[in-house]
Amino acid sequence: MNADVREKLFQQAKEWVMDAGTTIRTKIDDPLKVDTKSNPNDLVTTMDKETEAFFAGKIRENYPDHYILSEEGFGDELSSMDGTIWIIDPIDGTMNFVHQKRNFAISVGVYHDGIGEIGLIYDVMEDVLYSAQRTKGAYKNGEKIPQLDTSVPLKEAILSLNHFWLCENRLVNEKEMQRLVKTVRGTRTYGSAALEFAYTAEGIVDGYLTMSLAPWDIAAGMVIVHEVGGATITTDGEPINMLTKNSVFTSNSSVQREILDDFLIKGKK
Ligand code: IPD
Ligand code: CA
Ligand code: CA
Repeated sequence: MNADVREKLFQQAKEWVMDAGTTIRTKIDDPLKVDTKSNPNDLVTTMDKETEAFFAGKIRENYPDHYILSEEGFGDELSSMDGTIWIIDPIDGTMNFVHQKRNFAISVGVYHDGIGEIGLIYDVMEDVLYSAQRTKGAYKNGEKIPQLDTSVPLKEAILSLNHFWLCENRLVNEKEMQRLVKTVRGTRTYGSAALEFAYTAEGIVDGYLTMSLAPWDIAAGMVIVHEVGGATITTDGEPINMLTKNSVFTSNSSVQREILDDFLIKGKK
């Protein structure tokens, strides 16, 4: 994508993200209609749907030749990553949104012919915007985020993960995961994949590992982490397929190599 086109899109996307965030903050104490989707803990609210409808309306009006990949049904059915695709999670961390009214984010990634060009993750209640454009670095509220430290020893690392490795399709070896948890300095679970990517990019956690995420959970985060020198792969060390669900492991390269070789791959042998 041409840099000028991308800059224009970035400014536009940012404006819509901030507008959507303001609306959510204004309505945060309004009565909420909460429904469930795939299971009783998979929540969706009218706010998720209204926010996605807002983005879809703006994109369809201003960029009729762009595509949308999104969680709540306002997007397109896509079978390829060709063209310009907005990958949107209107509220990532809906359980936090419902129970805590904080610790959730709007996540918007823009990909062109399969390449992540723009990433925006907005922590709505903290009013903190993580942003990146390909090759232009990552920013937190406009301040450049430094490149990730690749010298963090695993025993001093903090990993973000959730307990789903206990049950999800046995993608990883349970004993190896327990050994990993005991090896690192600490683990955290924040309940918003987008924020966990943002924290990885910021270097306040050293990686985020989880067993099943959708494209909209990770699209923006992948661009932002990439811009600070980190990488995102599956727990098998394979590239992410942006058209399906994936196991996901994002971190700086040294921690990633070590965890992949010594815990994830080894656990499969
Ligand atoms: C969820 C959050 C959560 C992760 C789940 C996601 P949602 O997204 O990112 O942290 O563990 O797998 O589905 O449903 O709140 O948009
Ligand atoms: Ca999500
Ligand atoms: Ca969501």
